[in-house]
Amino acid sequence: MKIGIDLLCFHTPSYVMDLRILAEKRGVDPDKFTIGIGQERMAVLPPDQDIVTLAANAALPVVEKAGRDGIELLIFATESGIDQSKAAALFCHKLLNLPATCRCIEVKEACYGGTAALRLAATMVAARPHTKALVLAADVARYDLASPGEPTQGAGAVAMLVSTKPRILALDPETGFHAEDVMDFWRPNYREEALVDGKYSTRMYLTTLIQAWKQYTAASGRGLADHAHYCFHLPFTKIAYKAYSRLCKAEGTAEPPKEELLHLLDMALGYNRQTGNTYAACVYESLSALLDNMPEALDDKRIGLFSYGSGCMAEFFSGVVQRGYRAHLFTDLHRTMLDTRTPVTYRQYEDIFTYGIPKDGADHVFAPYRGGAFRLAGIKAHKRRYEATA
Ligand code: CAA
Repeated sequence: MKIGIDLLCFHTPSYVMDLRILAEKRGVDPDKFTIGIGQERMAVLPPDQDIVTLAANAALPVVEKAGRDGIELLIFATESGIDQSKAAALFCHKLLNLPATCRCIEVKEACYGGTAALRLAATMVAARPHTKALVLAADVARYDLASPGEPTQGAGAVAMLVSTKPRILALDPETGFHAEDVMDFWRPNYREEALVDGKYSTRMYLTTLIQAWKQYTAASGRGLADHAHYCFHLPFTKIAYKAYSRLCKAEGTAEPPKEELLHLLDMALGYNRQTGNTYAACVYESLSALLDNMPEALDDKRIGLFSYGSGCMAEFFSGVVQRGYRAHLFTDLHRTMLDTRTPVTYRQYEDIFTYGIPKDGADHVFAPYRGGAFRLAGIKAHKRRYEATA
């Protein structure tokens, strides 16, 4: 029985800042951002959007296309949670008008949360093959102003429908994963900005990649050449090249020539380069970019995927692109969304960054910004009030 991603949709905020503007402000050579870490722009989240609206905006095209019947599980993966108790999934459940016969939960393990949710959803669907699961992964990557992490900030969400008749990607059963208790990146409850030991986190990413890869290859018997393309977790896109280089080293293989390397990796970086880090959504945003923009058909091709969540959890897995997948993509929607974003100045970025909603529980009303089908209208009596924009 096949199980995998039936539909995949990505959403990012309608505001964006060019990293050359940030480089100028910080007195840094812009090439450090655009070449050194491989990022062009960062998504800027307006005050009336949050993980719930990002995820619901990503999911609406999916549920409108596939219908709501049979969705028995909704898992929301995030490290930017808005409530200590209530699952963000329940807000989305209402906004998306999903059936009451649907389990709604939130999961967390940094950027690995989206993959944890996908694997849990696949297991649940395997147990009840006539049902579907909706996986939402949404995050807002926020670091201190003027910190090394600042140029890697971003925001975005993916929605993935999981079923036994996947039209996009059938997941292979073999996988390799690795857990270790480390403090490379974390966000205590009293902070809005993540704390990170940047260099250590990059080392952990690359070390655990090899541990997960070894387990995956032992289980599957596959090697580097068995994957047509790779989608890596992308805190910044340059890491994909470092990751592939590590895999070559681990396999004792020479790195392919530049053209081949670009062909193998680059198409999967296009969206992340334009949005910045989307944490739990990252690797699936990368998959979306690959499927949308690879000029040659990927039908029946195997894709290798690597998910890393600080703290840390790492998993290498794979999937086979399904025949006729192109007819089921949201390519035009993704491209239009990215092409029509409103550029912001440095001042506007900092104003939005420092915009503080009351922390004392006072009521608040949010002015309307450009966004998707849903927005956060306000907070009243400690309750978030979401609304449809149309
Ligand atoms: N032109 C071209 N390249 C340049 C340059 C220039 N003028 N100036 C510098 N560079 C290059 C450097 O040589 C370096 O390249 P290499 O890594 O290949 O050596 C690169 O630009 C970055 O330069 P630095 O190492 O000096 O950058 P930095 O110290 O300012 O920080 C960072 C880089 C650690 C990634 C930082 O952005 C950071 O802390 N980011 C947040 C944490 C993060 O993304 N960690 C990744 C792994 S953890 C994870 O994956 C989970 C998650 O999502 C957070």
